Amino acid sequence: MSETSSASAKPTKNFFVEMLTRDISLEDAILDLLDNCVDGVQRSAEGVDSDQPYSGYWAEISFSNEGFKIEDNCGGIPIHIARKYAFRLGRPPEMDDEDRNKFTIGTYGIGMKRAIFKMGMDATVCAQTKEDSFSVAITSDWMKDEDDWTLPLEETGRSLDIEGTQITIRQLRPGIEEMCREGNKSKLHSAIIGQIRYQYSYILSKGFAVRVNGYSVTPAPLELKWGSPVNTSFAIEPYLYEATIDEVEINLAVGFYRPTPTQEEIDAETIVDRAEANRLRRGSKDIAGWTIICNDRVVVYADRTLLTGWGGDGLPKYHPQFISIAGIVHFRCEDAKKLPVNTTKRGIDASSLIYLYVKSNFMTKGLKIFTSYTNKWKGYTQEEHEISDNTPVLVPQKIAAQIPKENWKDVRRRFSSSEKKDIEQSQRQFVPTRLPEPKRDQADSKVRISYSKEIDEVELVADYLLGECEVKPSKVGEVCFDHILGKAKR
Ligand SMILES: Nc1ncnc2c1ncn2[C@@H]1O[C@H](COP(=O)(O)OP(=O)(O)OP(=O)(O)O)[C@@H](O)[C@H]1O
Ligand SMILES: [Mg+2]
Repeated sequence: MSETSSASAKPTKNFFVEMLTRDISLEDAILDLLDNCVDGVQRSAEGVDSDQPYSGYWAEISFSNEGFKIEDNCGGIPIHIARKYAFRLGRPPEMDDEDRNKFTIGTYGIGMKRAIFKMGMDATVCAQTKEDSFSVAITSDWMKDEDDWTLPLEETGRSLDIEGTQITIRQLRPGIEEMCREGNKSKLHSAIIGQIRYQYSYILSKGFAVRVNGYSVTPAPLELKWGSPVNTSFAIEPYLYEATIDEVEINLAVGFYRPTPTQEEIDAETIVDRAEANRLRRGSKDIAGWTIICNDRVVVYADRTLLTGWGGDGLPKYHPQFISIAGIVHFRCEDAKKLPVNTTKRGIDASSLIYLYVKSNFMTKGLKIFTSYTNKWKGYTQEEHEISDNTPVLVPQKIAAQIPKENWKDVRRRFSSSEKKDIEQSQRQFVPTRLPEPKRDQADSKVRISYSKEIDEVELVADYLLGECEVKPSKVGEVCFDHILGKAKR
């Protein structure tokens, strides 16, 4: 005779408080809190489609050995959400309905709690919406108590000046306290600012303001060169692709954000001495490569690896000669689960069908146009710069909006998935046809000379011929050649 009893499958607090927090870095945990602020804007904002949808919204982060605090004016947590869901460890399915028609990124129902557990042993969450205000205390006793799975929620009078959320974390864990201690002088301060600058570049450029220990973060640029569209036979333009596939909106742009590099700049990229490399570098290389954005968050910044197609499918591997090429792909969907983002939300899900489709067809196609352009102009950078330097940069959406409808072409290739038939999709692309070419006679009659010499000797020759040492090596080479050429012609 068999007897049926039961086996406990109850979760332990220890798992959430001590274990789950190990898989995430402190910086990513803080960015999870910032993601919640931005989701708050998506939930509360009207007119989210305007050019500056985040204008007027802000988040402020501050920390020291005393604790960590993040506050925002992003609408607050509605009290019914707080009672039913916000403090639960995991998202119940019915919550997905709450975020229907919103371009939010919250998916798993763990970010806020994990960030609190990661940082400290005591926290208070205060929130105020148009309707109500409350505060929830998460104490160290609660974190240790295996039986208590509810938290006291205290309804308060209007405790904040704004409609927003304030999370204060105290009793920092020893490792975290160490990282927070120096406040705005800490490595954490600059690391967080760096990450926000890149990962929130799109959101910051759309009006959101983030301050870290009083410092206002400025966005890293995400702009491409676009030549004047009026009646010129040639112009530097990006390749563009736009689609809506299975409710995911896709906007892709790839092109140049700066002039093609000179040989010296290419050499500078391989120089170990940083000061010397910076001296030779003409502009920044930050944005070179692919940047991927999901629901306004940058999930991959300036990638130059196989992940984004470099070195695969007939494309060259990334090399400093391609430093001027940048691509931006933006995926937007009201259902965050359809986005090609991994579970940390700080990386791409490289096996996502929609991502693979976009990468192998359109990212690759666009990249090929600009790597082959770069190769064509090799050795003629001066002429290329005359065009490129006079071509302004603009954000990709504005470029796309200004290209006349008739210059876009339909895309024939269809996205297909074995799991789902009849996927709704619309697609179009803009292929640049007016990219400048080096003049034939220039190309045929010129050869490139390059050689390496000891720096001391180059300076000596520069001083001898030009009366100064601080001259670009290529200039010294040219002057040497012209000097001898003059003699030879006599
Ligand atoms: N700053 C905030 N402003 C408005 N609502 C917030 C804020 N922080 C948290 N919330 C609410 O609390 C809920 C829980 O946040 P949490 O980060 O734990 O999970 P999530 O965002 O739903 O999912 P994920 O784990 O993927 O981040 C959010 O869905 C949101 O409703
Ligand atoms: Mg979240």
